Amino acid sequence: MASITIRQLDEDLKRRLRLRAARNGRSMEDEARTILRMASADELAEQSRANKAVPGVAPIPQPAAPLLARSIARQARVLLIVGGGIAAYKSLELIRRLKERGVVVRCILTRAAMEFITVLSASALSGERVFVNLFDPTTEHDIGHIRLAREAELVVVAPATADLMAKMAAGTADDLASAVLLASDATVLVAPAMNPHMWAHPATRRNLASLERDGVLVVGPKVGEMAEEGEAGIGRMAEPLEIVSAALPFLHSAHAPQTLKGRRVIVTSGPTHEPIDPVRYIANRSSGKQGHAIAGAAAALGAEVLLVTGPVTLPDPVGLKTVKVETAQEMLAEINRGLPAEVAIFAAAVADWRVEEPNANKIKKQPGSSPTLTLIENPDILATIGHRDKDRPRLVIGFAAETEQVIEHAKAKLARKGCDWIVANDVSPGSGVMGGDCNAVHLVTAEGIESWPPQSKEAVARALVARVADALTGAQP
Ligand code: C5P
Repeated sequence: MASITIRQLDEDLKRRLRLRAARNGRSMEDEARTILRMASADELAEQSRANKAVPGVAPIPQPAAPLLARSIARQARVLLIVGGGIAAYKSLELIRRLKERGVVVRCILTRAAMEFITVLSASALSGERVFVNLFDPTTEHDIGHIRLAREAELVVVAPATADLMAKMAAGTADDLASAVLLASDATVLVAPAMNPHMWAHPATRRNLASLERDGVLVVGPKVGEMAEEGEAGIGRMAEPLEIVSAALPFLHSAHAPQTLKGRRVIVTSGPTHEPIDPVRYIANRSSGKQGHAIAGAAAALGAEVLLVTGPVTLPDPVGLKTVKVETAQEMLAEINRGLPAEVAIFAAAVADWRVEEPNANKIKKQPGSSPTLTLIENPDILATIGHRDKDRPRLVIGFAAETEQVIEHAKAKLARKGCDWIVANDVSPGSGVMGGDCNAVHLVTAEGIESWPPQSKEAVARALVARVADALTGAQP
């Protein structure tokens, strides 16, 4: 049997293996063995997935997303910087939520954070040593602040206090947290939390604008009650799960090649609301979870994403432009404004009809009689863009939510709407897809039908945008 030694590797590979081995505290041989073991485990898992046939449809090689998710769960590293605010207690929950997803979490507590939570609780929950001091001789010897800065794929600052944001914007480095933030070239996600007056202050507005210009991602803050009695307004830190949702696409992107870099992608999401009068409207059911996940996944692969969304309760995905609309006509106008783009993915549940003349005032209830509404057809956004001659995106993708004959209807839709792919799913009551977190979809293209296994909407989104990237580079139909 042929054998290979580390010495035979080319210099660049050797250098990368050496760095990786040093990072993981292994010898180069052990590191090489670990990599081979991981590769063979992934291959086995992939084979077993590909062998699982979906009833009625020929088995097709499965998308790579779950594979990616597993290897990310094994390696992703977050450096969590906890600022000194009352919301610091929520950062302990954030550690748990990230750990549940297999992410390695290292924490830095600022001096002020230690007034709210202890080093012991952060280290017990993270299972890692917690760092607090810039000039700690043991940590500087063992793992210096530069290494702390370099080893994370994503730095999360939660809570990001007004003071921490000011330091970040000014680039000061007078404690461990700010020094690490200055030394890191990882993506930084901040979850601001402060009193509404501090949030509204021109100094904080300026600092936020500088941070956004520097490419810092921001999740929250939200409106709600403050810790101070009787105070309410905008300034509550985003919930731990919202921070996790904002963080995950960027952990994936740390591993995923930036295959959509420089590509412009438009995504629609959510329902549209077609007014009957100022208080009533017509709408389809849609949470926006799938569309928002697609937009986030495309941004994570480096795409320049425009998300046009109807009314949803989800937070805006970070790292992309979100435009909010109410009606189908507004949605179409925003898409036209957003063109040209290379890819358009229409995941919105657009209302098919609107009231011809919405009432200017609330229609009064009359005992014994009900108003008659005259409905007219809304523009079909997918068909309009799919049939465009000028500025038609290279890849136009529609969704088909069906309750019966899912594939037959999807095939018909592909032709009728002039799109390239249809992502079809069964939303019949009992499927749990509507408003749920999971989705089982069929990808219908001119080349055939692929039935993907049930998976989270995030995983569907990652698989879909990976296929889009392949298609743009000519690797896939
Ligand atoms: O015709 P149907 O509503 O089932 O088609 C679903 C697909 O068409 C989805 O991609 C949806 O976003 C899109 N659509 C649209 N404009 C409409 C209706 C549907 O873009 N008015």
